[in-house]
Amino acid sequence: MNVIAINGSPHPKGNTYLALSEACAELDKAGISSEIVNVGNLKLTGCRACGYCASHGGKCVLDDGLNEIAEKVKAADGLIVGSPVYYAGINGTLKCFLDRLYYTSSGSMRLKPAAALVVLRRAGGLDTVEDIYRFFTISEMIVTPTRYWPAVHGRTPGEVTEDGEGMQIARNIGKNMAYLLKLKAASDIPLPELEEKISTNFIR
Ligand SMILES: Cc1cc2nc3c(=O)[nH]c(=O)nc-3n(C[C@H](O)[C@H](O)[C@H](O)COP(=O)(O)O)c2cc1C
Repeated sequence: MNVIAINGSPHPKGNTYLALSEACAELDKAGISSEIVNVGNLKLTGCRACGYCASHGGKCVLDDGLNEIAEKVKAADGLIVGSPVYYAGINGTLKCFLDRLYYTSSGSMRLKPAAALVVLRRAGGLDTVEDIYRFFTISEMIVTPTRYWPAVHGRTPGEVTEDGEGMQIARNIGKNMAYLLKLKAASDIPLPELEEKISTNFIR
């Protein structure tokens, strides 16, 4: 089993990375491999709404590295999305990434365990967690619970390690996700049938 952990921060080894590493270490202890993929330092633009992905097997028309990461995410058994809090929300590059990941991964994330981890100096943590949860729930993913909301405090890179409770929450995420992954692996219950999608815009 394998989990992809997305680092939305432009700092490849900053606080988001450290919080994700704490969760991934618990997955590792449970025998589940993981890879932290940096997204925040890429030059990703927003969705062009061109519809290319719909007729090209989910591939995005833009050649900026997203397709390669999307393939890893689709192949993984679980997903963790980490973001620094920017103005009480996810940072811009991660928003571009998640907007485009939704269409390119359409259907393949269904009922896979997912977890959010955000890092922040002071305020806006829960709003940012909700930003990420909205991606999970529209993708029909199973949101991994934690004992508290998954926000870890720190400002300059490295400071999150001083937030004892926050880092414990990060470890808790790793443990709970490992449990959910094992639960799924031990089950022979098939995924529920998916009806053909009805798409209305409230007008017709
Ligand atoms: C542009 C920008 C906006 C920020 N907005 C907030 C904010 O709204 N609330 C907050 O608590 N911290 C905010 N911060 C602080 C970062 O969330 C914090 O420094 C975080 O630990 C950075 O994580 P990183 O090391 O992974 O990049 C902001 C930082 C930047 C650069």
